[in-house]
Amino acid sequence: MHILQLGGILASLATLAGAVPPAALKRQVSQLRSNYDFVIVGGGTSGLTVADRLSAAFPAKTVLVIEYGEIEFAPGVFDPPTLWITAAPDQASSWTFQSLPNPEMNNKTAFVLAGQVVGGSSAVNGMFFDRGSRFDYDSWTEAAGPDSSGIRWNWQGIFPFFKKSVTFTKPTAAVAQKYGYTWDVSAYGGSTPIYASFGPFQWADQQLLRKTWDELGIKSRKECAGGDKEGVCWVPSSQHPVTARRSHAGLGHYADATRPNYDLLVKHQVVRVVYPQGLSLGPPRVEVRSLADNQLFNVTAKAEVVISAGALHTPTVLQRSGIGSASVLGAAGIPVVLDLPGVGANLHDHSGAPVTWEYTTPGNFSPLPSDMLDPVFFANATAGFDEIPAQGPYTMAGGNSAIYVSLPHMTTNKKLKSIIKKIRDLASNTALASSYLPADYRTNPTMIAGYKAQLLALANLLSDPDAPSLETPWATGGTAYGFLLHPLSRGTVRLDPADHLAQPILDYRAGTNPIDFDLHLAHTQFLRKLINTPTMQQYGAVETAPGAGVSGDAALVEYIKEQIVLSFMHPCCTAAMLPKAKGGVVGPDLKVHGAKGLRVVDMSVMPLVPGSHLSATAYAVGEKASAIIIDAWSHGH
Ligand SMILES: Cc1cc2nc3c(=O)[nH]c(=O)nc-3n(C[C@H](O)[C@H](O)[C@H](O)COP(=O)(O)OP(=O)(O)OC[C@H]3O[C@@H](n4cnc5c(N)ncnc54)[C@H](O)[C@@H]3O)c2cc1C
Ligand SMILES: *[C@@H]1O[C@H](CO)[C@@H](O)[C@H](O)[C@H]1NC(C)=O
Ligand SMILES: *[C@@H]1O[C@H](CO)[C@@H](O)[C@H](O)[C@H]1NC(C)=O
Ligand SMILES: *[C@@H]1O[C@H](CO)[C@@H](O)[C@H](O)[C@H]1NC(C)=O
Repeated sequence: MHILQLGGILASLATLAGAVPPAALKRQVSQLRSNYDFVIVGGGTSGLTVADRLSAAFPAKTVLVIEYGEIEFAPGVFDPPTLWITAAPDQASSWTFQSLPNPEMNNKTAFVLAGQVVGGSSAVNGMFFDRGSRFDYDSWTEAAGPDSSGIRWNWQGIFPFFKKSVTFTKPTAAVAQKYGYTWDVSAYGGSTPIYASFGPFQWADQQLLRKTWDELGIKSRKECAGGDKEGVCWVPSSQHPVTARRSHAGLGHYADATRPNYDLLVKHQVVRVVYPQGLSLGPPRVEVRSLADNQLFNVTAKAEVVISAGALHTPTVLQRSGIGSASVLGAAGIPVVLDLPGVGANLHDHSGAPVTWEYTTPGNFSPLPSDMLDPVFFANATAGFDEIPAQGPYTMAGGNSAIYVSLPHMTTNKKLKSIIKKIRDLASNTALASSYLPADYRTNPTMIAGYKAQLLALANLLSDPDAPSLETPWATGGTAYGFLLHPLSRGTVRLDPADHLAQPILDYRAGTNPIDFDLHLAHTQFLRKLINTPTMQQYGAVETAPGAGVSGDAALVEYIKEQIVLSFMHPCCTAAMLPKAKGGVVGPDLKVHGAKGLRVVDMSVMPLVPGSHLSATAYAVGEKASAIIIDAWSHGH
């Protein structure tokens, strides 16, 4: 059975254990102070990290977080963990998006979720807690170019904040031995109550794919969180080491961090920021709308406003504020306050198609996910999750294994060279590169320069044998998705011109850069090889998709277009940290170019998506941003 289907079966188990929220929780603007030093827009993964750190660093300064969603207070409220990714989430804790059709993908739409709750997406995600490779973060500074700020967002500059952001707990010796877990504590070292741990459970066939990857020449790595992860990886889950309950920002950076100077307003939407006296006289005011009675109210910030509404909502807050592309604002009838074309541009995500198979001589493996359909097994699993320490299938979230493979390790040298050459040629061909951008950016030199800089950084990354291009996570057999870790196509997220407060319009533009198909093709061809390994043949593995009928590149590309999952829920990069001359929205200090007292801190600031799921990076970005802001206000900004 497929992990995503398992989520549906487990969905009925949601429990809502109540607990009393702290006094600092506000539900109405009448409960707020007359002003705040720092106002943070969005109580999600990065935003709560910043609120926690600033309120701790400056006891005499006040911090307000404004969050659209509810507070779900009890630890484990979103457990069992495999609740994620159902087409209709059964709690009002997520937004559900359907993108515009993608013409290059047979008009398929992307289905995307985003957390709408205190804790943001960390409270609803799949709890797969990996970091990108060093090459991913180095590509950010490479694309940005020379920087005199001294703030380094490359691997060396962000690694200390990855360490700080999380507490890693080793599994017991017995559990480690049973499954072969490996780790290296030097990748960790923090004491923040955001937990990374390995559960005491695996499906019985988990080892089969490990052996298969070994037979395909993919090496096991002891630790994958220290910058190098090309190989077979154990990936911890963001869960408590004893209870196996979800660890998320709403717990680790709010409930566990209550302070008299740290307020949280829930069920309010930030409409926009307003500069009554002009952009140079910040910080702006923050206009909020009560979801209870629709009333508007201005919150006054004395020091700074930090927008942390996530990659899909941060651009709309900026656009409603008149900060964005003049043509987009014009179409929506919003007066231009600051023309920054990069706002809502550069949208990308991970996507990929599956290879699936069946065993004609299956081994006697027990337990397997299909056992969850047996009421006795199911009841035992539920009881196990409530044991101390927690036991059984629910302790494993969506899984904790993955391969990360570089392009040089998947393709022939000839094929590799041809793909890299195509990307390099594109990076130096202004006419062609611009033709792959959204129509309204094709004559904008800054947007084109930024795209070309990204392409060059990607050509360098993808040609490196230690820089992964493909990820395949797994928990059991039967399906292997090929995540395209470094897509070249770019989309947009823009406010709905007909209703500015409604959900934004997502245009993924997937496959508009045709080189993405070369990469998907290389990945899928590589994954198909798993069927013929000795381990798979021992169990009579037969490919069910693409299937024997699909041969040749053209047919395989058609299969990919039909079966691709267009979002693995990692939308990003829509307010990119790049110079203004490269279409950037924020600088290395995360200040919005040209607007005083305004920063963005969330997954929209990345110029390029890292080759990992995003929550660990969202915490690390929040930690590094906090250090930057604390430093600024400790020295009179
Ligand atoms: C279903 C799903 C599965 C995922 N699986 C994984 C996984 O297994 N592993 C992993 O590492 N990552 C995963 N991710 C991705 C990861 O969780 C997110 O990329 C990351 O948490 C985003 O952090 P953020 O701070 O940018 O935004 P968020 O954490 O999403 O925070 C944004 C917050 O802003 C609030 N907000 C938005 N607009 C407004 C407004 N106008 N006013 C006030 N508040 C507002 C939102 O309600 C939200 O709380 C998954 C994401 C989803 C949605
Ligand atoms: C996608 O939709 C457009 C607009 O409706 C249509 O013209 C086009 O033929 C469709 N493409 C495919 C492959 O179905
Ligand atoms: C917030 O302030 C701006 C600028 O002064 C003003 O135009 C707007 O009406 C105010 N909103 C509310 C709700 O008071
Ligand atoms: C029930 O769960 C426990 C762990 O909590 C496990 O050790 C045991 O094997 C399970 N029993 C069955 C029949 O699955």
